[in-house]
Amino acid sequence: MILGIGTDLLDVARMAKELEGKGAGFRNTVFTPSEITYCEAKRYPARHFAARFAAKEALFKALAGSASRDFWREVEVARTEGEPPRLLLHGGMKEAAARLGVKNILVSLSHTASLAAASVVLQG
Ligand SMILES: CC(C)(COP(=O)(O)OP(=O)(O)OC[C@H]1O[C@@H](n2cnc3c(N)ncnc32)[C@H](O)[C@@H]1OP(=O)(O)O)[C@@H](O)C(=O)NCCC(=O)NCCS
Repeated sequence: MILGIGTDLLDVARMAKELEGKGAGFRNTVFTPSEITYCEAKRYPARHFAARFAAKEALFKALAGSASRDFWREVEVARTEGEPPRLLLHGGMKEAAARLGVKNILVSLSHTASLAAASVVLQG
């Protein structure tokens, strides 16, 4: 059963500005160490950071606004080369999703030089 769906679209330039202007503080508040490692190894890190930010926002929409205190870093896009991305939940977000009956989460990302998008589907 589908319990929720969320989508989000983000300007890559806006993400690049946040990353430049706010630096490591912003990065470490919003992204997990493995997300940072993945994005920073890419030729255009801001595109990948923007897609992950969009995935977190899309999840927030799919959960109809349920968020923990450390929401940003309790939602993580995980990648294995050649496979679709996975959305992992940790701590309070994992508990909140379980309380809502979420058994599986599907996520899809896309990005261009200017835009990044993500869609999330919650399965019960
Ligand atoms: C996987 C693939 C579809 C990605 O498409 P793309 O247009 O290059 O890239 P997009 O910007 O739309 O999406 C990039 C995101 O796709 C996701 N992705 C990567 N591999 C994926 C896969 N195997 N399945 C699902 N999603 C995948 C990633 O999250 C990636 O973002 P990230 O690197 O920041 O994590 C593409 O690389 C590919 O393999 N295409 C083959 C298409 C093909 O054979 N078509 C034949 C049809 S006739």
